[in-house]
Amino acid sequence: MMRHMGEFSYYNPTKIEFGPGKIAKLAELIPIDKKVLIIYGQNSAKKYGTLDQVYEVLREYTVDEFGGIEANPQYETCVQAIQKVKDEGFDFLLAVGGGSVIDATKFIAVGAMMEEEPRLIFGGDIGENKPITAALPLASIVTLPATGSEANKGSVITFPEHQAKLGWHSPLVYPQFSILDPTLTYTLPERQLANGICDAFVHTLEIYLTYPVDAKIPDRFAEGILQTLVEVAPDVVDTEQHNYAARANFMWSATVALNGWLRTGVPEDWSTHWLGHEITALNGTDHARSLTAILPALMDIRRQQKAGKLVMYAERVWGITEGTQEAKIDQAIMKTAEFFRSLGMPTCLSDVGVEEADIDFLTEQLVRHDKINLSEQGDQNQTVNRQIYKRAL
Ligand code: NZQ
Ligand code: ZN
Repeated sequence: MMRHMGEFSYYNPTKIEFGPGKIAKLAELIPIDKKVLIIYGQNSAKKYGTLDQVYEVLREYTVDEFGGIEANPQYETCVQAIQKVKDEGFDFLLAVGGGSVIDATKFIAVGAMMEEEPRLIFGGDIGENKPITAALPLASIVTLPATGSEANKGSVITFPEHQAKLGWHSPLVYPQFSILDPTLTYTLPERQLANGICDAFVHTLEIYLTYPVDAKIPDRFAEGILQTLVEVAPDVVDTEQHNYAARANFMWSATVALNGWLRTGVPEDWSTHWLGHEITALNGTDHARSLTAILPALMDIRRQQKAGKLVMYAERVWGITEGTQEAKIDQAIMKTAEFFRSLGMPTCLSDVGVEEADIDFLTEQLVRHDKINLSEQGDQNQTVNRQIYKRAL
Protein backbone atom coordinates (compact mmCIF):
# COMPACT_ATOMS: atom_id res chain seq x y z
CA MET A 1 0.00 0.00 0.00
CA MET A 2 1.32 3.42 -1.00
CA ARG A 3 2.38 5.43 2.08
CA HIS A 4 3.82 8.49 0.39
CA MET A 5 2.41 10.90 -2.16
CA GLY A 6 1.91 8.92 -5.37
CA GLU A 7 2.74 9.70 -8.96
CA PHE A 8 0.15 11.52 -11.00
CA SER A 9 -0.60 13.09 -14.36
CA TYR A 10 -2.55 16.27 -14.16
CA TYR A 11 -4.50 17.65 -17.10
CA ASN A 12 -7.49 19.99 -17.20
CA PRO A 13 -8.10 22.04 -20.32
CA THR A 14 -11.44 23.64 -19.29
CA LYS A 15 -11.38 27.43 -19.36
CA ILE A 16 -13.46 28.99 -16.55
CA GLU A 17 -15.26 32.31 -16.93
CA PHE A 18 -16.47 33.24 -13.45
CA GLY A 19 -18.67 36.18 -12.48
CA PRO A 20 -21.97 37.97 -13.02
CA GLY A 21 -22.92 38.61 -16.63
CA LYS A 22 -20.28 36.26 -18.08
CA ILE A 23 -22.82 34.82 -20.53
CA ALA A 24 -21.91 37.87 -22.63
CA LYS A 25 -18.55 36.17 -23.29
CA LEU A 26 -20.18 33.36 -25.30
CA ALA A 27 -19.68 35.12 -28.60
CA GLU A 28 -15.93 35.36 -27.98
CA LEU A 29 -15.68 31.77 -26.84
CA ILE A 30 -17.54 29.93 -29.63
CA PRO A 31 -16.19 30.29 -33.19
CA ILE A 32 -18.77 32.08 -35.38
CA ASP A 33 -18.85 29.30 -37.98
CA LYS A 34 -20.11 26.72 -35.47
CA LYS A 35 -23.64 25.32 -35.66
CA VAL A 36 -24.63 25.31 -31.99
CA LEU A 37 -27.09 23.01 -30.23
CA ILE A 38 -28.16 24.33 -26.81
CA ILE A 39 -29.06 21.47 -24.46
CA TYR A 40 -31.11 22.07 -21.31
CA GLY A 41 -33.28 20.38 -18.69
CA GLN A 42 -36.99 20.34 -18.01
CA ASN A 43 -37.85 24.02 -17.75
CA SER A 44 -35.68 26.10 -15.38
CA ALA A 45 -33.34 27.48 -18.07
CA LYS A 46 -36.34 28.63 -20.10
CA LYS A 47 -38.50 29.80 -17.23
CA TYR A 48 -35.81 31.95 -15.57
CA GLY A 49 -34.59 33.60 -18.75
CA THR A 50 -31.13 32.03 -19.07
CA LEU A 51 -31.94 30.68 -22.55
CA ASP A 52 -33.12 34.12 -23.67
CA GLN A 53 -29.79 35.58 -22.60
CA VAL A 54 -27.93 32.88 -24.53
CA TYR A 55 -29.98 33.42 -27.71
CA GLU A 56 -29.39 37.17 -27.46
CA VAL A 57 -25.60 36.78 -27.27
CA LEU A 58 -25.58 34.13 -30.04
CA ARG A 59 -27.94 36.05 -32.37
CA GLU A 60 -25.38 35.95 -35.23
CA TYR A 61 -24.96 32.15 -34.95
CA THR A 62 -26.90 29.22 -36.35
CA VAL A 63 -28.48 27.89 -33.17
CA ASP A 64 -31.17 25.41 -32.17
CA GLU A 65 -32.14 23.79 -28.89
CA PHE A 66 -32.88 20.41 -27.32
CA GLY A 67 -34.74 20.52 -24.01
CA GLY A 68 -36.09 17.83 -21.72
CA ILE A 69 -32.98 16.30 -20.12
CA GLU A 70 -34.15 14.73 -16.85
CA ALA A 71 -32.49 14.96 -13.43
CA ASN A 72 -30.39 11.76 -13.54
CA PRO A 73 -30.29 11.94 -17.35
CA GLN A 74 -31.81 9.01 -19.19
CA TYR A 75 -30.17 7.12 -22.03
CA GLU A 76 -33.16 7.24 -24.40
CA THR A 77 -33.47 11.03 -24.11
CA CYS A 78 -29.77 11.37 -24.97
CA VAL A 79 -30.30 9.07 -27.97
CA GLN A 80 -33.00 11.44 -29.28
CA ALA A 81 -30.59 14.36 -28.99
CA ILE A 82 -27.85 12.35 -30.72
CA GLN A 83 -30.22 11.69 -33.63
CA LYS A 84 -30.96 15.41 -33.93
CA VAL A 85 -27.25 16.28 -33.91
CA LYS A 86 -26.55 13.69 -36.63
CA ASP A 87 -29.56 14.63 -38.78
CA GLU A 88 -28.97 18.37 -38.65
CA GLY A 89 -25.17 18.52 -38.48
CA PHE A 90 -24.50 20.45 -35.27
CA ASP A 91 -20.82 20.80 -34.46
CA PHE A 92 -20.84 22.51 -31.05
CA LEU A 93 -22.90 21.54 -27.97
CA LEU A 94 -23.72 24.07 -25.25
CA ALA A 95 -25.13 22.69 -21.98
CA VAL A 96 -27.25 25.08 -19.92
CA GLY A 97 -28.07 23.51 -16.57
CA GLY A 98 -26.83 21.43 -13.66
CA GLY A 99 -24.83 18.21 -13.59
CA SER A 100 -27.52 16.22 -15.34
CA VAL A 101 -27.58 18.47 -18.40
CA ILE A 102 -23.78 18.70 -18.56
CA ASP A 103 -23.39 14.91 -18.17
CA ALA A 104 -26.00 14.31 -20.88
CA THR A 105 -24.26 16.77 -23.19
CA LYS A 106 -20.96 14.89 -22.75
CA PHE A 107 -22.68 11.65 -23.70
CA ILE A 108 -24.42 13.25 -26.68
CA ALA A 109 -21.02 14.63 -27.81
CA VAL A 110 -19.62 11.08 -27.88
CA GLY A 111 -22.74 9.37 -29.25
CA ALA A 112 -22.95 11.82 -32.16
CA MET A 113 -19.53 10.63 -33.36
CA MET A 114 -20.37 6.91 -33.16
CA GLU A 115 -21.81 4.74 -35.90
CA GLU A 116 -22.90 2.09 -33.42
CA GLU A 117 -25.29 2.33 -30.49
CA PRO A 118 -23.78 4.66 -27.89
CA ARG A 119 -24.69 2.28 -25.05
CA LEU A 120 -21.72 0.15 -26.15
CA ILE A 121 -19.27 2.42 -24.29
CA PHE A 122 -20.59 1.02 -21.00
CA GLY A 123 -19.61 -2.24 -19.37
CA GLY A 124 -21.57 -4.56 -17.09
CA ASP A 125 -24.74 -5.95 -18.60
CA ILE A 126 -25.33 -2.83 -20.74
CA GLY A 127 -22.46 -2.61 -23.26
CA GLU A 128 -19.02 -3.81 -24.29
CA ASN A 129 -16.66 -1.19 -22.77
CA LYS A 130 -16.09 0.10 -26.30
CA PRO A 131 -13.25 2.67 -26.36
CA ILE A 132 -14.24 6.30 -26.90
CA THR A 133 -12.33 7.73 -29.84
CA ALA A 134 -14.07 11.01 -30.72
CA ALA A 135 -16.41 13.65 -29.32
CA LEU A 136 -17.91 16.90 -30.54
CA PRO A 137 -16.65 20.04 -28.77
CA LEU A 138 -18.86 21.09 -25.86
CA ALA A 139 -19.13 23.81 -23.24
CA SER A 140 -21.38 24.61 -20.29
CA ILE A 141 -23.25 27.35 -18.49
CA VAL A 142 -23.70 26.15 -14.91
CA THR A 143 -27.03 26.82 -13.21
CA LEU A 144 -26.57 24.45 -10.23
CA PRO A 145 -23.22 24.16 -8.44
CA ALA A 146 -22.82 20.56 -7.26
CA THR A 147 -21.20 17.94 -9.42
CA GLY A 148 -18.08 19.62 -10.81
CA SER A 149 -19.06 18.18 -14.20
CA GLU A 150 -18.40 21.63 -15.70
CA ALA A 151 -14.65 21.08 -15.31
CA ASN A 152 -14.11 17.34 -15.41
CA LYS A 153 -14.22 14.41 -17.81
CA GLY A 154 -16.91 12.36 -16.05
CA SER A 155 -20.59 11.73 -16.70
CA VAL A 156 -23.33 9.51 -15.28
CA ILE A 157 -26.18 8.12 -17.42
CA THR A 158 -29.30 6.32 -16.18
CA PHE A 159 -30.88 3.23 -17.78
CA PRO A 160 -34.29 3.03 -16.08
CA GLU A 161 -35.17 -0.38 -17.56
CA HIS A 162 -32.03 -1.87 -15.96
CA GLN A 163 -32.35 0.22 -12.77
CA ALA A 164 -28.78 1.23 -13.54
CA LYS A 165 -26.92 4.50 -13.12
CA LEU A 166 -23.55 4.16 -14.78
CA GLY A 167 -20.55 6.46 -14.77
CA TRP A 168 -18.02 6.80 -17.59
CA HIS A 169 -15.27 9.22 -18.47
CA SER A 170 -13.05 10.35 -21.29
CA PRO A 171 -10.54 13.19 -21.65
CA LEU A 172 -12.36 14.02 -24.91
CA VAL A 173 -15.36 15.42 -22.99
CA TYR A 174 -13.76 18.07 -20.83
CA PRO A 175 -15.86 21.14 -21.60
CA GLN A 176 -13.88 23.65 -23.69
CA PHE A 177 -15.12 26.34 -21.34
CA SER A 178 -17.63 26.74 -18.53
CA ILE A 179 -19.41 29.89 -17.49
CA LEU A 180 -19.95 30.18 -13.73
CA ASP A 181 -22.22 33.09 -12.86
CA PRO A 182 -23.21 32.84 -9.17
CA THR A 183 -26.32 34.96 -9.79
CA LEU A 184 -27.75 32.11 -11.92
CA THR A 185 -28.12 30.16 -8.65
CA TYR A 186 -30.62 32.70 -7.26
CA THR A 187 -33.59 30.79 -8.70
CA LEU A 188 -32.60 27.46 -7.10
CA PRO A 189 -34.95 26.08 -4.43
CA GLU A 190 -33.53 25.35 -0.98
CA ARG A 191 -33.55 21.59 -1.62
CA GLN A 192 -31.28 21.86 -4.65
CA LEU A 193 -28.93 24.28 -2.88
CA ALA A 194 -28.62 21.82 0.03
CA ASN A 195 -28.08 18.99 -2.46
CA GLY A 196 -25.32 20.94 -4.19
CA ILE A 197 -23.49 21.76 -0.96
CA CYS A 198 -23.62 18.14 0.18
CA ASP A 199 -22.59 16.65 -3.18
CA ALA A 200 -19.50 18.89 -3.22
CA PHE A 201 -18.82 18.03 0.45
CA VAL A 202 -19.00 14.29 -0.25
CA HIS A 203 -16.81 14.57 -3.39
CA THR A 204 -14.15 16.18 -1.25
CA LEU A 205 -14.47 13.49 1.42
CA GLU A 206 -14.37 10.59 -1.08
CA ILE A 207 -10.93 11.85 -2.07
CA TYR A 208 -9.79 12.83 1.45
CA LEU A 209 -11.05 10.03 3.72
CA THR A 210 -8.73 7.22 2.75
CA TYR A 211 -5.34 6.75 4.47
CA PRO A 212 -2.61 9.35 4.99
CA VAL A 213 0.11 9.62 2.33
CA ASP A 214 1.56 12.94 3.49
CA ALA A 215 0.18 14.75 0.45
CA LYS A 216 -0.03 18.15 2.11
CA ILE A 217 -1.39 20.17 -0.82
CA PRO A 218 -4.46 18.04 -1.66
CA ASP A 219 -5.11 17.41 2.07
CA ARG A 220 -5.07 21.07 3.06
CA PHE A 221 -6.91 22.05 -0.08
CA ALA A 222 -9.65 19.51 0.75
CA GLU A 223 -9.89 20.77 4.34
CA GLY A 224 -10.27 24.31 2.98
CA ILE A 225 -13.15 23.27 0.72
CA LEU A 226 -14.91 21.36 3.53
CA GLN A 227 -14.58 24.30 5.94
CA THR A 228 -15.73 26.76 3.29
CA LEU A 229 -18.85 24.70 2.57
CA VAL A 230 -19.70 24.44 6.30
CA GLU A 231 -19.13 28.20 6.73
CA VAL A 232 -21.21 29.42 3.79
CA ALA A 233 -23.97 26.78 3.93
CA PRO A 234 -26.44 28.72 6.14
CA ASP A 235 -26.24 31.79 3.86
CA VAL A 236 -26.35 29.72 0.68
CA VAL A 237 -29.65 28.02 1.60
CA ASP A 238 -31.26 31.33 2.56
CA THR A 239 -33.47 31.76 -0.50
CA GLU A 240 -35.01 35.04 0.71
CA GLN A 241 -31.77 36.99 0.64
CA HIS A 242 -29.39 36.28 -2.18
CA ASN A 243 -25.98 36.49 -0.59
CA TYR A 244 -23.61 36.88 -3.55
CA ALA A 245 -20.43 36.21 -1.57
CA ALA A 246 -21.81 32.96 -0.16
CA ARG A 247 -23.10 31.80 -3.55
CA ALA A 248 -19.78 32.64 -5.23
CA ASN A 249 -17.77 30.70 -2.65
CA PHE A 250 -20.18 27.78 -2.90
CA MET A 251 -20.02 27.73 -6.69
CA TRP A 252 -16.23 27.69 -6.83
CA SER A 253 -16.04 25.07 -4.04
CA ALA A 254 -18.24 22.71 -6.06
CA THR A 255 -16.05 23.10 -9.15
CA VAL A 256 -12.70 22.63 -7.44
CA ALA A 257 -13.96 19.69 -5.36
CA LEU A 258 -14.01 17.60 -8.53
CA ASN A 259 -11.90 19.31 -11.21
CA GLY A 260 -8.91 17.09 -10.45
CA TRP A 261 -6.85 19.32 -8.13
CA LEU A 262 -7.70 17.24 -5.05
CA ARG A 263 -6.85 13.99 -6.82
CA THR A 264 -3.12 14.67 -7.18
CA GLY A 265 -1.04 11.88 -5.65
CA VAL A 266 -3.61 10.53 -3.20
CA PRO A 267 -5.71 7.35 -3.01
CA GLU A 268 -9.48 7.72 -3.54
CA ASP A 269 -12.59 5.89 -2.37
CA TRP A 270 -15.79 6.44 -4.35
CA SER A 271 -17.81 3.82 -2.49
CA THR A 272 -20.34 6.27 -1.00
CA HIS A 273 -21.16 7.22 -4.60
CA TRP A 274 -21.39 3.61 -5.78
CA LEU A 275 -23.64 2.60 -2.90
CA GLY A 276 -25.68 5.79 -3.37
CA HIS A 277 -26.14 5.34 -7.14
CA GLU A 278 -27.95 2.05 -6.47
CA ILE A 279 -30.43 3.87 -4.23
CA THR A 280 -31.16 6.47 -6.91
CA ALA A 281 -31.53 3.72 -9.52
CA LEU A 282 -33.95 1.91 -7.18
CA ASN A 283 -36.26 4.76 -6.25
CA GLY A 284 -35.15 8.06 -7.83
CA THR A 285 -33.68 9.61 -4.67
CA ASP A 286 -31.80 12.85 -5.49
CA HIS A 287 -28.10 12.10 -6.04
CA ALA A 288 -26.80 14.09 -3.05
CA ARG A 289 -29.47 12.70 -0.73
CA SER A 290 -28.40 9.15 -1.58
CA LEU A 291 -24.88 10.09 -0.45
CA THR A 292 -25.73 11.72 2.87
CA ALA A 293 -27.94 8.72 3.72
CA ILE A 294 -24.92 6.40 3.39
CA LEU A 295 -21.83 8.35 4.45
CA PRO A 296 -22.25 8.40 8.28
CA ALA A 297 -22.73 4.61 8.33
CA LEU A 298 -19.80 4.08 5.97
CA MET A 299 -17.51 6.19 8.18
CA ASP A 300 -18.54 4.11 11.17
CA ILE A 301 -18.11 0.70 9.54
CA ARG A 302 -14.78 1.70 7.97
CA ARG A 303 -13.44 3.55 11.03
CA GLN A 304 -10.54 1.17 11.52
CA GLN A 305 -9.27 1.24 7.91
CA LYS A 306 -9.73 5.02 7.72
CA ALA A 307 -8.63 5.87 11.28
CA GLY A 308 -5.65 8.05 10.32
CA LYS A 309 -7.66 10.29 8.01
CA LEU A 310 -10.76 10.29 10.21
CA VAL A 311 -8.73 11.66 13.10
CA MET A 312 -7.12 14.26 10.80
CA TYR A 313 -10.62 15.20 9.59
CA ALA A 314 -11.87 15.50 13.20
CA GLU A 315 -8.97 17.66 14.28
CA ARG A 316 -8.40 19.85 11.25
CA VAL A 317 -11.91 20.30 9.84
CA TRP A 318 -14.01 20.24 13.01
CA GLY A 319 -11.42 21.37 15.57
CA ILE A 320 -11.97 18.29 17.79
CA THR A 321 -8.73 17.99 19.76
CA GLU A 322 -9.84 16.38 23.04
CA GLY A 323 -10.35 12.71 23.78
CA THR A 324 -9.15 9.36 22.51
CA GLN A 325 -8.82 8.51 18.83
CA GLU A 326 -12.15 6.64 18.96
CA ALA A 327 -13.89 9.56 20.67
CA LYS A 328 -12.59 11.98 18.03
CA ILE A 329 -13.88 9.72 15.25
CA ASP A 330 -17.28 9.41 16.98
CA GLN A 331 -17.55 13.18 17.23
CA ALA A 332 -16.46 13.72 13.62
CA ILE A 333 -19.16 11.33 12.40
CA MET A 334 -21.71 13.09 14.62
CA LYS A 335 -20.67 16.55 13.36
CA THR A 336 -20.91 15.39 9.75
CA ALA A 337 -24.42 14.01 10.25
CA GLU A 338 -25.47 17.16 12.15
CA PHE A 339 -24.21 19.30 9.28
CA PHE A 340 -26.26 17.29 6.78
CA ARG A 341 -29.35 17.45 9.02
CA SER A 342 -28.94 21.24 9.46
CA LEU A 343 -29.53 21.44 5.69
CA GLY A 344 -32.57 19.18 5.80
CA MET A 345 -30.65 16.28 4.26
CA PRO A 346 -31.27 12.60 5.10
CA THR A 347 -28.70 10.75 7.19
CA CYS A 348 -30.12 7.21 7.05
CA LEU A 349 -31.85 4.89 4.61
CA SER A 350 -35.31 5.15 6.11
CA ASP A 351 -35.11 8.90 5.28
CA VAL A 352 -34.84 7.97 1.59
CA GLY A 353 -37.46 5.22 1.47
CA VAL A 354 -35.13 2.21 1.61
CA GLU A 355 -36.04 -0.73 3.85
CA GLU A 356 -34.14 -3.75 5.11
CA ALA A 357 -35.88 -5.88 2.47
CA ASP A 358 -34.21 -3.79 -0.29
CA ILE A 359 -30.66 -4.50 0.84
CA ASP A 360 -30.27 -7.81 -1.01
CA PHE A 361 -31.29 -6.13 -4.25
CA LEU A 362 -28.96 -3.15 -3.70
CA THR A 363 -25.95 -5.38 -3.06
CA GLU A 364 -26.77 -7.61 -6.05
CA GLN A 365 -27.00 -4.51 -8.24
CA LEU A 366 -23.47 -3.51 -7.16
CA VAL A 367 -22.19 -6.81 -8.56
CA ARG A 368 -24.14 -6.35 -11.79
CA HIS A 369 -22.51 -2.94 -12.19
CA ASP A 370 -18.96 -4.19 -11.62
CA LYS A 371 -18.78 -2.48 -8.23
CA ILE A 372 -17.05 -5.15 -6.21
CA ASN A 373 -14.04 -4.83 -3.93
CA LEU A 374 -14.53 -1.11 -3.39
CA SER A 375 -12.64 1.52 -1.37
CA GLU A 376 -9.11 2.85 -1.59
CA GLN A 377 -7.84 -0.54 -0.44
CA GLY A 378 -10.10 -2.74 -2.58
CA ASP A 379 -11.17 -4.60 0.56
CA GLN A 380 -14.78 -3.39 0.76
CA ASN A 381 -16.45 -6.56 -0.47
CA GLN A 382 -20.10 -7.53 -0.63
CA THR A 383 -20.17 -8.50 3.05
CA VAL A 384 -18.91 -5.05 4.03
CA ASN A 385 -21.27 -3.31 1.58
CA ARG A 386 -24.15 -5.18 3.17
CA GLN A 387 -22.94 -4.14 6.65
CA ILE A 388 -22.84 -0.50 5.55
CA TYR A 389 -26.36 -0.60 4.08
CA LYS A 390 -27.58 -2.30 7.28
CA ARG A 391 -25.86 0.21 9.58
CA ALA A 392 -27.43 3.00 7.50
CA LEU A 393 -30.97 1.73 8.12
O1 NZQ B 1 -34.46 20.33 -15.31
P1 NZQ B 1 -34.57 21.73 -14.85
O2 NZQ B 1 -35.92 22.31 -15.07
O3 NZQ B 1 -33.47 22.61 -15.35
O4 NZQ B 1 -34.46 21.70 -13.22
C1 NZQ B 1 -33.29 21.28 -12.53
C2 NZQ B 1 -33.48 19.91 -11.87
O5 NZQ B 1 -34.82 19.66 -11.58
C3 NZQ B 1 -33.09 22.19 -11.35
N1 NZQ B 1 -32.29 23.40 -11.63
C4 NZQ B 1 -31.05 23.45 -12.18
N2 NZQ B 1 -30.62 24.73 -12.20
C5 NZQ B 1 -31.63 25.49 -11.69
C6 NZQ B 1 -32.69 24.64 -11.34
N3 NZQ B 1 -33.85 25.11 -10.79
C7 NZQ B 1 -33.93 26.44 -10.58
N4 NZQ B 1 -32.94 27.30 -10.88
C8 NZQ B 1 -31.77 26.87 -11.43
N5 NZQ B 1 -30.76 27.76 -11.65
O6 NZQ B 1 -32.39 21.40 -10.40
C9 NZQ B 1 -32.79 20.04 -10.53
C10 NZQ B 1 -31.59 19.13 -10.39
O7 NZQ B 1 -30.70 19.32 -11.46
P2 NZQ B 1 -29.55 18.25 -11.76
O8 NZQ B 1 -28.75 18.76 -12.91
O9 NZQ B 1 -30.12 16.90 -11.84
O10 NZQ B 1 -28.67 18.29 -10.41
P3 NZQ B 1 -27.17 18.06 -10.14
O11 NZQ B 1 -26.35 19.20 -10.63
O12 NZQ B 1 -27.10 17.71 -8.71
O13 NZQ B 1 -26.75 16.80 -11.04
C11 NZQ B 1 -27.00 15.48 -10.63
C12 NZQ B 1 -26.49 14.49 -11.67
O14 NZQ B 1 -25.06 14.57 -11.80
C13 NZQ B 1 -24.46 13.29 -11.61
C14 NZQ B 1 -25.44 12.64 -10.66
O15 NZQ B 1 -25.27 11.26 -10.61
C15 NZQ B 1 -26.78 13.07 -11.24
O16 NZQ B 1 -27.13 12.26 -12.34
N6 NZQ B 1 -23.08 13.42 -11.14
C16 NZQ B 1 -22.13 13.78 -12.04
C17 NZQ B 1 -20.79 13.88 -11.70
C18 NZQ B 1 -19.77 14.27 -12.68
N7 NZQ B 1 -20.10 14.40 -13.95
O17 NZQ B 1 -18.60 14.47 -12.34
C19 NZQ B 1 -20.32 13.58 -10.34
C20 NZQ B 1 -21.41 13.54 -9.33
O18 NZQ B 1 -20.97 12.74 -8.26
C21 NZQ B 1 -22.71 13.01 -9.81
O19 NZQ B 1 -22.71 11.58 -9.78
ZN1 ZN C 1 -21.68 13.29 -6.46
